[in-house]
Amino acid sequence: MRIDVLALFPEILAPALNTGILKRVQDADKLAVKLHNLREWATDKHKSVDDYPYGGGAGMILKPEPIFAALETLNPETNANVVYLTPQGTPLTQAVVESLSLEKHLILLCGRYKGVDERVRHRLVTTEISIGDYVLSGGEIAALVLIDAIGRVLPGALGDYESAHVDSFSQELLDHPHYTRPATFADLTVPDVLLSGHHENIEKWRYVEALKRTAACRPDLLQRLELSEEDIKILRAAGLME
Ligand code: ADE
Repeated sequence: MRIDVLALFPEILAPALNTGILKRVQDADKLAVKLHNLREWATDKHKSVDDYPYGGGAGMILKPEPIFAALETLNPETNANVVYLTPQGTPLTQAVVESLSLEKHLILLCGRYKGVDERVRHRLVTTEISIGDYVLSGGEIAALVLIDAIGRVLPGALGDYESAHVDSFSQELLDHPHYTRPATFADLTVPDVLLSGHHENIEKWRYVEALKRTAACRPDLLQRLELSEEDIKILRAAGLME
């Protein structure tokens, strides 16, 4: 998979791309990320990439010409998915991440200031993604979030490839609690079932804990699921459902 990032401050992404799983997937040639500074495509002597909004008002707008020129270089066949990171985009979920992870070529366009000239959205952008209902100072950090989430689900990214696909959100429930040694720490003990070696009971316990945690922390997620009678019984007994 190839990802080109087009941004005013692409250097923000570099340290994270050179660390941990993201570095590993690139070293293994599963992912190639290239960072590009939009200013390289500025045409005037001041290398300007932004301008005042028609109609007045506060804030600057990213000019169309450098972005169109950049995409002619980065996307000559126009078959990449051009993703614009913006608070107006589709909310990023694990399902969106998994779907984008199947693409061959993504171009991530990072906004700054008040965003891009509307003609960029009309002609060039094919997908708009928001990483949450808050406003960042630019799209670079959002692009990094997206690359990180994609990188870890690419085949071969995790030592245990399965673990990406059974974690929170892939199963539509939040994750169950985890414990490691020691079995007793500061008067706090690990639940007996986890020490029992009884795999079926352990799986059942994990499911119940994930269900209860989801009901307590993210009841909105539960509403999208079809709960069994047994699930409802468990949640009622735990005082998490009427
Ligand atoms: N750019 C600024 N804020 C953003 C957000 N919440 N998601 C994606 N891109 C952004």
